[in-house]
Amino acid sequence: MTDLKEASLGKTVEHPNKSFFFQLSGIHPELPSIEIFSILKGEEFQYKVLEKKDQFLLLNCSEQAAYKTAERAAYCRRSVELLYRSEVGSKTTENIAKNISEHIEFTKLLQKDARFKVRVYRIGKAQAKHVSIHLEKAIGDMVWEQTNGACKADMKNPTIIFIVMFTENDFFFGRETFSRKKGSFTDRRPDLRPYFKPGTLEPRFARLMVNLSRAKPGEYLLDPFCGPGGILIEGAIIGCKILGSDLDKRMVKGSKKNIDYYAPSNNAGFVISDAKQLPFKNKIKSIATDPPYGRSTSTYGKEIEDLLTRFLQNASQILEKDGIIAIGMFEEVPLQEIVEKSGFILEHFEKIYIHRSLTRRIGVCRLK
Ligand SMILES: C[S@@+](CC[C@H](N)C(=O)[O-])C[C@H]1O[C@@H](n2cnc3c(N)ncnc32)[C@H](O)[C@@H]1O
Repeated sequence: MTDLKEASLGKTVEHPNKSFFFQLSGIHPELPSIEIFSILKGEEFQYKVLEKKDQFLLLNCSEQAAYKTAERAAYCRRSVELLYRSEVGSKTTENIAKNISEHIEFTKLLQKDARFKVRVYRIGKAQAKHVSIHLEKAIGDMVWEQTNGACKADMKNPTIIFIVMFTENDFFFGRETFSRKKGSFTDRRPDLRPYFKPGTLEPRFARLMVNLSRAKPGEYLLDPFCGPGGILIEGAIIGCKILGSDLDKRMVKGSKKNIDYYAPSNNAGFVISDAKQLPFKNKIKSIATDPPYGRSTSTYGKEIEDLLTRFLQNASQILEKDGIIAIGMFEEVPLQEIVEKSGFILEHFEKIYIHRSLTRRIGVCRLK
């Protein structure tokens, strides 16, 4: 494989041809990358896919697009600007450090008094043998040497973090542009919210649903089965104008309370309504929803299939052409059939194991 070195080292201007890699969660083989593409499309960022592997995506896009996408995505651990890549082959740890140092002009890349940190990770089927403090130190020594000791390693307060990521056959070296802090969704856990009812989505999963709907900050996002507002909270946090409705007035009140607590906004609208007869007049682009499963939440005596069919028919009247519904459902319901007969194209249809008695189906439906 040819080595790839970006020509834009040290530039701070926006460079449309930079490459960024994304370290994704292993929670599901497809959903984390579908989430990334959905955000890029929703935000209308230009991008090109260069490589897609297990838990790894390499894209050509702007720095802003890479940062914003990684920051929004529930199942992305970090984004890194690619500076150099090569095959691992039979290279020793020392060879890898030397190889990186030969291809990167750290003096141009780093400011005079920069403090740096090097971290090494592996994903998918990568071997563990090079993932060591030894490699981090070897690269650190080379940076120190190249800059004549002007740039020092600083593990606590670095101004720049270098990442080496090992995949099955290759390693990728770059500058970290975003990293998700552990526990960044924890404060929104259902049991910590001011209004709690069982059947609400975990915040990370709710964020995934928002992102799959291609919701865009400043535009409307509707959840017509809003329950305690798990999806709406995440939509409000990314800056959407949220619309929530539910047949149960306690849920509408509760979700408003939760939104007021986590993301108070004048752009939030709530209504008590049946999802089969939504009262909205304006056309909207994104719906993210998790209708009742008929297990822990009530379906008001209606069959789920009938409820879904009538909801989708109604939603097709208020969605723009090419508008998206991201919908969660339990796997026994023939979601594909219902979606297709209601005038939608099922763009993605993924199965995700939640726990022993629940496997969900996630559908991403686009209005024809
Ligand atoms: C699974 S909960 C939604 C949870 C929510 N997505 C969250 O993450 O917090 C389903 C909700 O659908 C509501 N519901 C049931 N039938 C409905 C209907 N026909 N129209 C509107 N809401 C309905 C229930 O009251 C319940 O609050």
